[in-house]
Amino acid sequence: MWEKKPVLFLVLATGAILVGTIITMVLPFAWVNTEADRIDSVVPYTAIQQEGRDIYIREGCNNCHSQTVRPLVSDVLRYGDYSKSGEFVYDRPFLWGSKRTGPDLARLGGKYPDAWHYKHMTSPRVMFPKTNMPDYGWLSANKLDPQMIKRKMDVLGFPYTSEEIESLAEKTEMDAMVAYLQKLGSDIPWREAAASEVVGELRNPSPGDPDFIKAGREQYVENCGVCHGADLEGDIARELTDLDVNDMVLFMFIHDGIEDEMPGFASLGGKRIWQIVNYINYGVLKKAVQVPEPAKSVELKNPSPGDESAIKSGRDQYVLNCQACHGADLEGDIGPELTDLDYEDNDLYMLLRDGIEGEMPGLAKIGAAKLWQMVNYLNYGAKK
Ligand code: HEC
Ligand code: HEC
Ligand code: HEC
Repeated sequence: MWEKKPVLFLVLATGAILVGTIITMVLPFAWVNTEADRIDSVVPYTAIQQEGRDIYIREGCNNCHSQTVRPLVSDVLRYGDYSKSGEFVYDRPFLWGSKRTGPDLARLGGKYPDAWHYKHMTSPRVMFPKTNMPDYGWLSANKLDPQMIKRKMDVLGFPYTSEEIESLAEKTEMDAMVAYLQKLGSDIPWREAAASEVVGELRNPSPGDPDFIKAGREQYVENCGVCHGADLEGDIARELTDLDVNDMVLFMFIHDGIEDEMPGFASLGGKRIWQIVNYINYGVLKKAVQVPEPAKSVELKNPSPGDESAIKSGRDQYVLNCQACHGADLEGDIGPELTDLDYEDNDLYMLLRDGIEGEMPGLAKIGAAKLWQMVNYLNYGAKK
């Protein structure tokens, strides 16, 4: 019936459409981007960062890189804390983008050291052979124009000092780009907040395991080689061939990263990190396998010196663990004969627990009770 009254129909239809338009397009401006969204720690770009940003736009980096981390689990796991509207107050124009040929860059600042960016920008393929990101090495040949930057800062109303502007005369476009990339997403302290905790017991699941070492080598090449060199010889970051840290500490280094120097690799998950630990400590550095400390023993004391049944069980343990090297009757084989030992009980216990580097494996893993049984067998049973 209304279709016969065109004017009324037009008014009603327009009204209906406007309701939707107002709710989805106008009201949000009242709900978001209010003073409450302002983040105190977000500061304007410095002169050199702003110049880097303009070069970023000039070169069309935003055609391949977005700058917004969506509040999706997959995005947050990969890139870090999702983007807040208050982080973009000084972005003119914004560079959120929707094309991700390369990774999102919104949380890039502080992920890598400066040297990494110089190397990567100069030739991404040196670091990622299959990347299609163009080379930008020529940015290093272009000097900045301080007067031009000064005018931009005036228009934008961002603070700067005359020394700051003058110092730009020696800088190149590459310096500006790196300065800009390091500022991205680093205004809010999300890294500290996101530092995920290691849950569960921190213990190498299979120290020295050849499969772990092999898998660890692949993980190393993929994740660490660009900075530490394909063979740990060092590159942007130090060489790792003289590394002297135990499995646990190395795990934490890789898991947490080092602020402003090295990204954390918590996202690899515990198993892959242990593989890398095994590759470095046992595959390359050929360390003696670190057997985890047994649960803190109350006191180092032979629980039953000379006890018959302890001696008998100790004999069984000996056959299981030692006879291959020391002979069925302690007469010696690969290892020396053990019939004329002269060790205190406690010293013998420690020797069996920790082993002898490069000669004899430690046996912490069989536990204190069985170790003491063997001590009894060797010191009281076999010696007579
Ligand atoms: C043709 C698409 C393309 C263009 C254009 C491009 N990139 Fe990339 N970018 C990539 C790809 C793919 C990767 C992932 C592999 C790599 O790191 O090279 C990448 C990676 C990066 C990374 C490393 C990110 C990380 O978290 O590891 C940075 C930084 C970067 N690009 C900056 C830039 C800048 C700055 C520009 C503009 C000067 C630019 N890119 C232009 C495709 C592109
Ligand atoms: C973006 C570059 C980069 C990547 C990728 C990287 N590192 Fe690092 N790493 C560094 C920097 C920078 C340092 C600081 C030490 C230095 O160079 O003096 C460092 C330090 C370390 C240290 C501490 C050395 C010490 O005792 O001070 C270890 C261990 C280490 N890295 C292992 C790894 C492993 C394993 C990986 C791969 C999972 C890795 N790194 C990936 C840059 C990187
Ligand atoms: C892989 C072979 C191997 C196995 C298995 C082994 N040992 Fe040994 N053990 C050696 C070697 C080799 C030495 C000599 C190391 C040296 O002094 O440089 C040694 C030394 C010792 C010594 C010190 C001898 C001395 O006079 O200082 C004791 C005690 C000993 N082993 C006990 C044991 C017991 C008990 C077991 C079983 C729990 C065991 N070993 C398992 C190879 C082995």
